[in-house]
Amino acid sequence: MFGFFKSAKPKSVYIEGMDQALEVGNKETILNAALRQGVRFPHSCRVGGCASCKCRLTEGKVKELTESAYILSEDELDQGYILACQSVPKTDVRIAVDNLNSDGPGFAPRRITGSVVAQQPLTHDIMALDIRLDESIQYAAGQYALLSVPGCIEEPRSYSFATAAGPGGEQRVRFFIRRVPNGEMSGWAQGPVLDTPIALEGPFGDFYLRDGSSPILCIAGGSGLAPIKALLEDALSFKNPRPVVFLFGARSQQDLYCLDDIKQLQQEWAGDFTFVPVLSEEPADSDWHGRAPGAW
Ligand code: FES
Repeated sequence: MFGFFKSAKPKSVYIEGMDQALEVGNKETILNAALRQGVRFPHSCRVGGCASCKCRLTEGKVKELTESAYILSEDELDQGYILACQSVPKTDVRIAVDNLNSDGPGFAPRRITGSVVAQQPLTHDIMALDIRLDESIQYAAGQYALLSVPGCIEEPRSYSFATAAGPGGEQRVRFFIRRVPNGEMSGWAQGPVLDTPIALEGPFGDFYLRDGSSPILCIAGGSGLAPIKALLEDALSFKNPRPVVFLFGARSQQDLYCLDDIKQLQQEWAGDFTFVPVLSEEPADSDWHGRAPGAW
């Protein structure tokens, strides 16, 4: 009779190949539960767009928060693959993770406090924030951190590091924060935030440049420039000669930014470096002579 008022019990996720069961809270995704419990689960975007968190569901049922069919192949779907960042267990489940023990960049996440020391508008809706940490942090260019503002924004938001880290780590780190409608952190970042205490947890993510000699294709849009810029700056510091094609998408000219930084990268790059900004909503009568959809 009172079943209507019952709160859902936590579910368990058993990861095959590890002697470990995770407890997953009500409405929690498998990936969030794994990271919360210190399991280095492969992942990158956390929003269902990269498939780096894919794993095979071998027992039980999950609720998928977004449609995974467009990112997983038909074969993978037939084999029961799911995205851990988009799957909330409906029952106790068992999963198999193909690359659970891959080394990754190898920097253990930790929590470090610091404060905002610089704030620079990059466009009408993207703000760069520099944070000086109480200790230096090591990360691979391309990775991200969770940021929160103690006493103000307790729920952390994820942002990619926008600059590369030196070999000994960095104490001053930079993030690009784009204003989104009703975004608590993104709205906060546009205000007077200098000297505000910040908590950073990280690094996280499997997006980083793998060794190799093949050409590098980079595609970025909006504040998604941050990890690409960091990754290319890092590669430049190693005099990486791999050819680069870099597509930077934006709506109009006022949304393009860091063009001087990209130009400098291009000039100093040891191999071919092709940079192509692409605008999707530039007025037809503007002075833009670059790329646009339908103008290739
Ligand atoms: S799809 Fe990117 S982390 Fe899950």
